[in-house]
Amino acid sequence: MNDTRELVLTLESHIPIITIESHDEQRVRHLFAEVAVHLNKPVFSWSMTEGMTRMDHGDSFSAQSHTKDPEAMLGQIKASTTPGVYVLMDFHPFIDEPLHTRLLKEIALNYHTISHTVVLVSHQLSVPNELKRLTASYEVALPTLDQLDRIVRDAANDWAKAHPGKKVQTDSATLDLLIRNLQGLSMNDARRLARKAIVDDGKITKEDLPRISKAKYDMLDMEGVLSFEYDTAQFSDVGGLKRLKRWLDQRKMAFHGEAQGLDAPKGIMLLGVQGGGKSLAAKAVSGSWGIPLLRLDFGALYNE
Ligand SMILES: Nc1ncnc2c1ncn2[C@@H]1O[C@H](COP(=O)(O)OP(=O)(O)OP(=O)(O)O)[C@@H](O)[C@H]1O
Ligand SMILES: [Mg+2]
Repeated sequence: MNDTRELVLTLESHIPIITIESHDEQRVRHLFAEVAVHLNKPVFSWSMTEGMTRMDHGDSFSAQSHTKDPEAMLGQIKASTTPGVYVLMDFHPFIDEPLHTRLLKEIALNYHTISHTVVLVSHQLSVPNELKRLTASYEVALPTLDQLDRIVRDAANDWAKAHPGKKVQTDSATLDLLIRNLQGLSMNDARRLARKAIVDDGKITKEDLPRISKAKYDMLDMEGVLSFEYDTAQFSDVGGLKRLKRWLDQRKMAFHGEAQGLDAPKGIMLLGVQGGGKSLAAKAVSGSWGIPLLRLDFGALYNE
């Protein structure tokens, strides 16, 4: 099911409050602009800087600056007798204020009389307990490999336009690795990193990948539990370990999803004496397969 269809279903499911946790506000705005035509209600957006604006009618409805104040805005929704969808951008700093929680609850409880839907869009959001049963969450799907491919190609075209007579240089294997390394990011972040890979020299090379992976894991903000290892190695640096090398060679295609019908290997446990080459082997897997190497800090997992 595509994003728009699923969002329409969520909005029509008679749940008065919907939360969307996303770093990609622009994408969420686009989604609402698309679904607005399928709904028989007006769609408004609110932010503390703009106040309330109508999303589905272009500029014909100018911003209502008197609704910048959260309380005034919620009061206006509550007082409105025509059902509407209200998309509140970054309401999270205000949600715990007792008056705001109460107003939201009253709007929600009145849903069967006037069906207002309040959508809360923030990078992170925790809903007060009294609102939880009136709330559903909607997840914006992350871009697919095809969409990431499009993003990288668009970035390459933009670069070519800005540099007449030149084209971005790359090879399909590196391009493929870059696209895979962008998985898990929002459209905006993926776009930013794709540009970053290209902008310095107009080339996408294997040397760009560690830099891009590092930027990606910085963005994902793993709070110190997972860290990106910049330093990798090649198997030509590793002596011995023949059976490990053979095992890896046999499974490389399955791991990259190129072998039909074979499950990707889940992991390897390396056990050995100190200084026996475990870390080096891990770095060589990452370096030779062109995949990011992440270190999980076990101590931090238990650090409550
Ligand atoms: N098979 C090998 N080929 C080449 N160098 C090796 C090999 N095994 C170990 N070394 C070298 O020995 C040093 C220690 O290796 P490494 O850090 O990978 O060991 P380790 O098993 O991770 O140790 P620890 O248990 O202390 O974490 C490194 O400098 C590494 O380059
Ligand atoms: Mg080690």
